[in-house]
Amino acid sequence: MRPLFSDTPWFGGDYNPEQWPEAVWDEDVELMRRAGVNLVTVGVFAWSLLEPEEGRYEFGWLDSVLDLLHDNGVKVDLATATAAPPPWLSRRYPESLPVTVDGVRLSPGSRQGYCPSSPVYRRSAARLTRVLAERYGSHPAVVMWHVNNEYGCHVARCYCDESAAAFRRWLTAKYDTIGALNEAWGTAFWSQSYSSFDEILPPRATAAYPNPTQSLDFERFSSDEMLACFLEEKAILREVTPDIPVTTNFMGLFRGADYWRWAEHVDVISDDLYPDPADPDAARGSALARDLMRSLGRGRPWILMEQSPSAVNTRPSNAPKPPGQMRALSYQALARGADGILFFQWRQSASGAEKFHSAMVPHAGTDTRIWREIEQLGSELKSLGEVMGARVQAQAALVFDWDSWWAIEQQGLPATSSYRALVARWHAALTEAGLTVDLTRGDEDLTGYPIVIVPSLFVTTDAQAAAIDAAARAGSSVLVTDQTGIVDENLRVRLGGYLGELQSTLGVWIEEFWPLAGAWVRPGAIPVSPESTVPPTVSVCGSLFADGSATGVEWSETVHVRQAEVVAAFDGGPLDGWPALTRNVRGNGSAWYLATRLGQDDMAAIVRQLIAESGLEVRRPDSGRDGGFVESVQRGDTLFVINHGTAAVTLAIPGTDVLSGGAASGMTLEPNGVAAVVAEVVQASSAS
Ligand code: GAL
Repeated sequence: MRPLFSDTPWFGGDYNPEQWPEAVWDEDVELMRRAGVNLVTVGVFAWSLLEPEEGRYEFGWLDSVLDLLHDNGVKVDLATATAAPPPWLSRRYPESLPVTVDGVRLSPGSRQGYCPSSPVYRRSAARLTRVLAERYGSHPAVVMWHVNNEYGCHVARCYCDESAAAFRRWLTAKYDTIGALNEAWGTAFWSQSYSSFDEILPPRATAAYPNPTQSLDFERFSSDEMLACFLEEKAILREVTPDIPVTTNFMGLFRGADYWRWAEHVDVISDDLYPDPADPDAARGSALARDLMRSLGRGRPWILMEQSPSAVNTRPSNAPKPPGQMRALSYQALARGADGILFFQWRQSASGAEKFHSAMVPHAGTDTRIWREIEQLGSELKSLGEVMGARVQAQAALVFDWDSWWAIEQQGLPATSSYRALVARWHAALTEAGLTVDLTRGDEDLTGYPIVIVPSLFVTTDAQAAAIDAAARAGSSVLVTDQTGIVDENLRVRLGGYLGELQSTLGVWIEEFWPLAGAWVRPGAIPVSPESTVPPTVSVCGSLFADGSATGVEWSETVHVRQAEVVAAFDGGPLDGWPALTRNVRGNGSAWYLATRLGQDDMAAIVRQLIAESGLEVRRPDSGRDGGFVESVQRGDTLFVINHGTAAVTLAIPGTDVLSGGAASGMTLEPNGVAAVVAEVVQASSAS
């Protein structure tokens, strides 16, 4: 297969020339040259123009566009255009439209109006893919295939009869016999025993909670079903154009698809991410998503396929990115392993559903802040060839798994939790401490990581428990937090005290859950009354915390110690005196257990302990960071320092900033400021 990446970062965006008269196209390529654009994604939503009637194609406009781009040195990531079926498809085959959990069949007139299990959708998508591959596979501009678009973005689950039939096929392949399914799903409860696979439906709207394992299997099935759509198109592309790499754009930490299962099938990992400029923590969240993308590709370079130059039009109120933020977030992606920075979209639409979404060429034209920032970034990226292909070295692994995500957010649990928030908080704590973090499903070799964090791995498989234990034995400092090891992959409780196999790793077992009244609630839920008998927080005493005490929120539980040291204990409340934080010596490493949830400062105190005991040396690149999140990431020989905070910081490291050409030491980084410090000098100083 042809390599996609070379020694210059990709720079560009979604290009939708079909929205514009041809007269505009010449100006487009002229401006692309000015901005340094070298890659555009074409045709994502062009199905109805490419195939205006079933089996009749119109390619003239696309031929011209690809030739024009090629003549101007712009490469193309060509879409298979299957994400938005044309009106004729649903008119002729209304059964191809998706159905919601309440049984409502969605109407056409928007996008993504298809059921992933619909045979007619699949057939039509496959036919279009083949025709496009045969026509454009040898076009010199085409360097990558872009299958569909953001699978599951709007319709991640379909509950129609076709989906039900496909679900039954998936279950039959998984369980083989109905007896095995009944056993796995625990159907003896609530009179749910099935006599045949034919009786099974998707978990449509029910009177009370649906069967939890049925629901989890439906999440898995739905992710697999979208993946099957991707694989069908990919197989055609491979057959016709074996040399051209294939991508489909992911959406950061997207709940609807298990990207660990997808990643091995995608030649180039690509991601779409739209951090909210109004959210002061947005850069922390995007750092996590970038680390996930690098980890999905096992460290290989990936592409930021879509981001907005400024405002989006998808929120109730859409803040623009303040000056410099688009650049800072672009460098964050580059620092964390991206070899390409692309946008949605090239030219801001004059009509249609996204006309108020910002674009590289704004409504007001090129005498604009956005255009100037685009030109600046495009020109700067050319000087960053050194970074291309370079690896990012992580010191910590963070376990993140879709099964636990789906399961810990079901109904009928001890408390409601946001899995994403639980994982994000630990990622932020590690990142703030200056560590770089790989994400992992947790069932692979973790022994190389000095620090391993396992937040609320509700579903813990034997393989995960074994890998976590092996990491501790081999010398890692492992921290496991509450709600881990509760159930197996069929959601069957691990009996004999929670934590399952991890009891011997951690030297503790859990008897009973005591969620706190202030537990994380779904948006819109009524806050707990001040008179509640369950306290919203609990004090935790331990000398590692500032002033010897921390505040536990959301969760507490009774922890019995078999052989661990009690590092901190609950102070007051129903669990007064019981262990809150324990540490067990395990082989060459340690295994910590935390039985509550803490604020950032208290999490930072624990991370400092893990860093200290693992012997890691973490150097801060700046002299202070009172104004918020300043991230520093070493990629190859370049140390990126990005100030996402609200106050300026001064760098205190040797080396040269390749962006300004100046010395790094003493350099002031204003909010949204970026430095890319070349490593020769950094290396020389660390060697001395
Ligand atoms: C993405 C999508 C793009 C565009 C963008 C707007 O989800 O792939 O086509 O809609 O959002 O933010």
